[in-house]
Amino acid sequence: MNPEALARLHARAFTGAPRPWSAAEFNALLAAPGVQLAAADAGFALIRVVAGEAELLTLAVAPEARRRGLGRALLARAEARAAESGAVEMFLEVAADNAAALALYAAAGYARAGLRRGYYHPASGAAVDALVLRKALVATAGSAPLS
Ligand SMILES: CC(C)(COP(=O)(O)OP(=O)(O)OC[C@H]1O[C@@H](n2cnc3c(N)ncnc32)[C@H](O)[C@@H]1OP(=O)(O)O)[C@@H](O)C(=O)NCCC(=O)NCCS
Repeated sequence: MNPEALARLHARAFTGAPRPWSAAEFNALLAAPGVQLAAADAGFALIRVVAGEAELLTLAVAPEARRRGLGRALLARAEARAAESGAVEMFLEVAADNAAALALYAAAGYARAGLRRGYYHPASGAAVDALVLRKALVATAGSAPLS
């Protein structure tokens, strides 16, 4: 998926907070150190791995493709990539009112690690808190942490 397609899908997936990211922003992210993309036809996950720690930068599934397991599969693929790159834990931020994502992350084993009050500023409406979630990653067989 190229930066334009990523931006289009991101804008369709995120209608509240955070704001959509532009093609230029995706282009810059994809060129940044440690950033990896896991993509499917109707969704993608973007992670950044730095010094044994991974961050889920974004996860998006097209509205018409939801509740079919794609979000769960992309998250699992992102976690596997992160572990293969030497990460021992994954962090992410999620809007406190995002029930679908919170359910997905809870089912995948993420636990609350922090709270950022008023973190998101949707174009319409009041600021929304972000929850910081964390999960310990288990290296898959055959993968070795980078030294
Ligand atoms: C969050 C998101 C990625 C989930 O993608 P998805 O492909 O629909 O998720 P899955 O079908 O893999 O769902 C996995 C599990 O998550 C939970 N879940 C997903 N959507 C849910 C919803 N709307 N309500 C309640 N639980 C939900 C369920 O436990 C679900 O398992 P089940 O279908 O067996 O009950 C998708 O809704 C999305 O793109 N939302 C907008 C962008 C976003 O919020 N991204 C994450 C922000 S960090």
